[in-house]
Amino acid sequence: MDTTLRTHVMPAGASATATAAGVLAEGGLVAFPTETVYGLGADAGNASAIARLYEAKGRPAFNPLIAHVADLAAARRIALFDGQALRLAEAFWPGPLTLVLPKALSCPVAELATAGLDTVAIRVPAHKVAREIIKTFGGAVVAPSANLSGHVSPTTAEHVNGDLAGRIDLIVDGGAVEVGVESTIVGCFSDPVLLRPGGLTRAEIERVLGYPLQSPAAAESDDSQPVAPGMLASHYAPRTPVRLNASDVHVGEALLAFGRAKVARAECASVVMNLSERGDLAEAAANLFGYLRTLDKKNADAIAVMPIPDDGLGEAINDRLRRAAVGRA
Ligand code: TXA
Ligand code: MG
Repeated sequence: MDTTLRTHVMPAGASATATAAGVLAEGGLVAFPTETVYGLGADAGNASAIARLYEAKGRPAFNPLIAHVADLAAARRIALFDGQALRLAEAFWPGPLTLVLPKALSCPVAELATAGLDTVAIRVPAHKVAREIIKTFGGAVVAPSANLSGHVSPTTAEHVNGDLAGRIDLIVDGGAVEVGVESTIVGCFSDPVLLRPGGLTRAEIERVLGYPLQSPAAAESDDSQPVAPGMLASHYAPRTPVRLNASDVHVGEALLAFGRAKVARAECASVVMNLSERGDLAEAAANLFGYLRTLDKKNADAIAVMPIPDDGLGEAINDRLRRAAVGRA
């Protein structure tokens, strides 16, 4: 890896958009904000740019990437949509939903980005900066979260810079993201499967479908249906151990609180951060990764996390927290 690369940081705007599109066209790597988390973009049709992207993130194995496109028409050049996939795309794009679909015959996304699968993950982001970069570039942009492999996803340009400075060409700074957890991934197989809970709730998706989403565990028992290969048990891990559903605090622990409920021995906490004092799950999701990063730097013995309700965005928050608690291999 060429670690002498100079990473430019530009504030979002017309000049950054034009520079970003040019860097992508030349096979470079550009980090930019989406509404969920910051993404690290490369030209979806350029295998050597994609190889550089895997290297910059330090991904241990080739883990398929999401192709980001400007609209449904562009998505339909990449993948095959059945009726249910169309309903979901029309209801939720642009927005924090990724669909895994069969590849179209002349799918322009490089094999390396889809890890040799016959399916492809696609999303149409809602963030203005992401949309303008993709439109100006004119093609699909593959973009994993813009963090080193195994770290929590970045929700600010500073997080991206901390992980990837010297490894990528450009960071477009559009401020803090709104949603704070990654997109929800739905596999559009004969029965749609919730491959990753995320920024769009299960309930909203099921309302449009009119029937429940399958869970990946059920899908796994059927060999014909692939699951999200990137959903490693530990994926979002801070260095500090994470202790879930804490009803008390041990001496030397940091406390990640939620709502106004009390925990026993709260005074033992070396530091306390509250994801949302008013118990709002959207606010908690937006704060989650930034707070984990901050608490990870406090040299606490562990991060004790108060229970978080599992409804709505709580499903995605608890999914990320469980992965953080598994620790990094
Ligand atoms: O919100 C997001 O989705 C962000 C922003 C930047 O768009 N992106 C993101 O990408 O979270 P990444 O690479 O960190 O996660 C993509 C997930 C991985 O778990 C990967 O395995 C899964 O999508 N995936 C990609 N293609 C797939 C496919 N064909 N079948 C099943 N899972 C797939
Ligand atoms: Mg990621």
